[in-house]
Amino acid sequence: MSNIDLASVTLPVDDGRRRLLIAATSTVAVVGLAAVAVPFIRSMDPSQKAMTAGASITVDIGKLEYGQQMTLEWRGKPVWVLRRSEEMLNIMETEKHRARLRDPDSKELTQQPGYAQNVYRAIEAEYFVVIGICTHLGCVPNFRPDIAPEDLGPEWDGGYYCPCHGSLYDLSGRVYRGVPAPSNLVVPPYHFHAAMVVEIGVGYDDAVQNGKG
Ligand code: FES
Repeated sequence: MSNIDLASVTLPVDDGRRRLLIAATSTVAVVGLAAVAVPFIRSMDPSQKAMTAGASITVDIGKLEYGQQMTLEWRGKPVWVLRRSEEMLNIMETEKHRARLRDPDSKELTQQPGYAQNVYRAIEAEYFVVIGICTHLGCVPNFRPDIAPEDLGPEWDGGYYCPCHGSLYDLSGRVYRGVPAPSNLVVPPYHFHAAMVVEIGVGYDDAVQNGKG
């Protein structure tokens, strides 16, 4: 496929699917959903684990339902893949909470690859791939997609809540102002082999360079 500058792409918002499809024809081993993938990695012996410690992981995300999130393990870290629902996308597109976010435009370049420097912090709006570690002191935040829950208040429109010291992130992992976490959650390098197969650990830019993106 042709090399495109994702930073300059405006993601479509009116076709119901809102996809920027990044397809390729590479053949790679595909590991199943997180519920399967994490035990698979944990069941490996130490030498196998060491071999895969720096490797990428390739995952079939086809069974993820709207609003559902899966947890993978990559380089010893939890990585979430959230399939955003129509309601989630609508909330994000209003940018209602923009003024309350510390870095709404993802200007801190260390927190995501260039191709994820958009409001969705993603290659495809529907799928959010992010490392599930709070940027304050490294706790694992809770996924809180519920709207206006009692403990988070009427302004809460879904996102991530770190119970360790109360940091809050929106559905793109963008941190709110006035909380201890200093920056947005980290988006790892990744790309899609096909619409429903994602490889984490190899960025879209590298995949394109190697003829796989
Ligand atoms: S580690 Fe998340 S708020 Fe402190």
